[in-house]
Amino acid sequence: MLKLENVKVSYGAIEAVKGVSLEVGAGEVVTIIGANGAGKSTLLKSVVGWELPSAGRIVLDGRDVTTVPAHQRVAMGLAMSPEGRGVFADQTVRENLMLGAYSRRRDTAAIDAAIDREFRRFPRLRERQDQQSGTLSGGEQQMLAISRALMSDPRLLLLDEPSLGLAPLIIRDIFNAIRELRQDGLTILLVEQMAKQALGVADRAYVLETGRITLQGSGQELLDDPKVKAAYLGSH
Ligand SMILES: Nc1ncnc2c1ncn2[C@@H]1O[C@H](COP(=O)(O)OP(=O)(O)O)[C@@H](O)[C@H]1O
Ligand SMILES: [Mg+2]
Repeated sequence: MLKLENVKVSYGAIEAVKGVSLEVGAGEVVTIIGANGAGKSTLLKSVVGWELPSAGRIVLDGRDVTTVPAHQRVAMGLAMSPEGRGVFADQTVRENLMLGAYSRRRDTAAIDAAIDREFRRFPRLRERQDQQSGTLSGGEQQMLAISRALMSDPRLLLLDEPSLGLAPLIIRDIFNAIRELRQDGLTILLVEQMAKQALGVADRAYVLETGRITLQGSGQELLDDPKVKAAYLGSH
């Protein structure tokens, strides 16, 4: 479904992604693990169109989307839950969800059905639907960020560090939701520093170090890999 070919992304003189090639097949959960600063967020931003690569190709369903604007990629089935959630703090939960559906804003019945679907997925969002999103806990904001991304009915969901800063019980809820999405057949590209949980849910995984893929394999292979254990699984 998604193919990156030798993708490079720079910020001025800093090359954050130094030639990454990877693939995500339909129905797969693929995880990229890497330390802070490895280039994970930059890579996801290039996939959704928030950063333009300086070299390489991004191919979605066989079509080169490297320079396609972000809003068109949403229409093609891409959606991202960004690092740090990115919810609009002074808008209510329901308003944030409606913003996620902007690509089909004329179809109110479909939007209402999608909101109800997300409230069933995360019942706490239903309870807090009229609250300002800034008053939510970190875990609730993460649920909202995922649900907002799902409002556009993506075929490929990108998740940037959904466990960041959350308590273990909430992380468990988030990963349970990821498992359910996978059972529903959604294709997921997940980026995480919390390697154990992320590799546990992954069909395949890549290790990203200072902008380069240094290891790849099945989720289980990387969980068992001594280098991964030493560098990413130590304290979790
Ligand atoms: N907007 C930016 N401007 C300049 N440098 C950036 C910017 N965003 C990220 N970087 C740099 O790019 C590198 C990769 O960052 P990032 O993609 O955020 O890594 P990760 O998500 O793995 O922590 C880091 O060296 C970071 O400092
Ligand atoms: Mg990041």
